[in-house]
Amino acid sequence: MKLVLGIESSCDETGIALYHTERGLLAHALHSQIAMHNEYGGVVPELASRDHVRHVLPLIRDTVMKAACTLGDIDAIAYTQGPGLSGALLVGASVGCSLAYALDIPTIGIHHLEGHLLSPLLATPAPEFPFVALLVSGGHTQLMRVDGVGRYTMLGETLDDAAGEAFDKSAKLLGLGYPGGAALAKLAQTGQTGRFKLPRPMLHSGDLDFSFSGLKTAVLTASQQNTLDEQTRADIACAAQEAIVEVLAKKAMAALKQSGLGQLVVAGGVGANQQLRAQLNEAAGKRDCRVFYPDLEFCTDNGAMIAFAGALRLQQQEARHDYRFNVKPRWDLQQLNYSD
Ligand code: KG4
Ligand code: ZN
Repeated sequence: MKLVLGIESSCDETGIALYHTERGLLAHALHSQIAMHNEYGGVVPELASRDHVRHVLPLIRDTVMKAACTLGDIDAIAYTQGPGLSGALLVGASVGCSLAYALDIPTIGIHHLEGHLLSPLLATPAPEFPFVALLVSGGHTQLMRVDGVGRYTMLGETLDDAAGEAFDKSAKLLGLGYPGGAALAKLAQTGQTGRFKLPRPMLHSGDLDFSFSGLKTAVLTASQQNTLDEQTRADIACAAQEAIVEVLAKKAMAALKQSGLGQLVVAGGVGANQQLRAQLNEAAGKRDCRVFYPDLEFCTDNGAMIAFAGALRLQQQEARHDYRFNVKPRWDLQQLNYSD
């Protein structure tokens, strides 16, 4: 029976949560920096770090209060060790390790993508190992075979832009602010299908890799060649979303077929996209497969997934009492090695 505090600070969200191995998620809190970065059209790393510094302790206090416990009840602290912005990661790592030192409890450095990958296990119903995971965040697009905690095999990934980046860059070209994925999806609802036909990169490549950088060029061309009135913007948004979603859904189905597995887990911010969910559900239904998603609030960055991954790692005795820390801004999920 363990209580784990999770700290997420890899990018533009400060997320804190308390996860109990028997009682589940007790409380969580999130501060998003989106409004602050929106002014600059993207995340400004230095501003991100400073904002994490401002919010991390008040959020920890809030979360502990909401869970009706005290700092002394916490058994271990999990923090995002990477990948992400180094300054931002250092805030969570230093606060996590200092607090753990003060409380004399162990720490666990968590891989941000492992947090996303395991987050559907927090939902009900939860998938069971093994499953195929489609990881679609702002920086990553990967198809992974997951046989257990820490047992990940890469099946395919993007060769250039991530799906989230394709959403964000298309949204930016359409004047939708940052990050524009959700805004583009909203605008696409009023768009007309079929007016613009954008490329489906690598749809027939025969492997499970992706490429989305050509799509933003196609969106750029479409937006330069047309007067960008409200309807045209919506039509382009609709076409961009359709292209991204079709490629993701087809490749995810190919991964299920290739692996022979019957469960697909979708994680990361783009997993909040309703059209993606609808297409995946329909395609999976036809093959007698099931698709699992995290609750909407846990699709994008949050502390719950870090606390939860920490709790699972704790069961494998991955926690340390050594309070020196380093962050890993670039860190391949398959190289997970918690002993270094
Ligand atoms: O997982 P996440 O919060 O952060 C990273 O770890 O990168 O994902 C953020 C990404 C952004 O690219 C954002 O535009 C996208 O998820 N996103 C969406 C939607 N909600 C968030 N993309 C499409 N449709 C959405 N509804
Ligand atoms: Zn993320």
